[in-house]
Amino acid sequence: MTATIIDGKAFAAGLRTRIAAQVATFTESAGRAPGLAVVLVGEDAASAVYVRNKGKATQGAGMISIEHRLAADVAQDELLALVDTLNADSAIDGILVQLPLPGHIDERAVTTRIDPDKDVDGFHPVNAGRLATGIAGFVPCTPLGCVMLLKDTLGDLTGLDAVVIGRSNIVGKPMAQLLIAESCTVTVAHSRTRDLSTVVKRADIVIAAVGRPEMVKGDWLKPGATVIDVGINRTEAGLVGDVDFAGAMSVAGAVTPVPGGVGPMTIACLLRNTLVSAARREGVVLDEAAL
Ligand code: GUN
Repeated sequence: MTATIIDGKAFAAGLRTRIAAQVATFTESAGRAPGLAVVLVGEDAASAVYVRNKGKATQGAGMISIEHRLAADVAQDELLALVDTLNADSAIDGILVQLPLPGHIDERAVTTRIDPDKDVDGFHPVNAGRLATGIAGFVPCTPLGCVMLLKDTLGDLTGLDAVVIGRSNIVGKPMAQLLIAESCTVTVAHSRTRDLSTVVKRADIVIAAVGRPEMVKGDWLKPGATVIDVGINRTEAGLVGDVDFAGAMSVAGAVTPVPGGVGPMTIACLLRNTLVSAARREGVVLDEAAL
């Protein structure tokens, strides 16, 4: 048996097109385009690529992208002052400070400084609490993209067994919350989980978000399972995910590739969150079901 490859790149392109259509409606109604501010501190090469791609996609959807680049040795207070300025700027609907930050800066101090109603990354504890309690807020982009791909692949997720491997604040924990909200039975596994392969074996849905190249093997999977690979690992053999793709393809029902799976969805969901933020702030009603 060969699994279906879940084409995140194509799904993300369609989503960006639907977003662009509603950006045009918003701009007509509000008299301005949605604005996203992206802050990059230092010269990390991977972060610079992500920020450039975010800026291009933002403009491609008809939104305004404003980039702030700060030196790697910038004082924390200076970064916090920039966040304050962006919080107060009525033309800015979304604020994203690219992580990781240099070691002398307290990431928590920065993410908690962002106005929760402009927190399009969904990293602020207020948005984590809203997600956990079912209040509308902002959901972190990567897990939001994963759940969109799952629903596109499987339809209704009610009652399915889901195993999330990884417990980070950015992916694992919000992913678990979203799957609970979809009425899955959710297990969160992590580096201290005993007998991980047995835990994974019962899952209809596997979300791999551990950052270990090809850790999840094909023979760990339940036949027909849907596998979402959040990993992006640079190895000598090139870019690989957290799942042994070839092994998974011979057992699973559907698998996301790396690259071309989850990655493009993260950026599309950032655009979605920015548009939703702009609409909430201006009182413009969107067709959220189409997003
Ligand atoms: N670094 C890696 N992924 C992300 C993300 O989704 N948002 C931010 N702000 N930084 C990141």
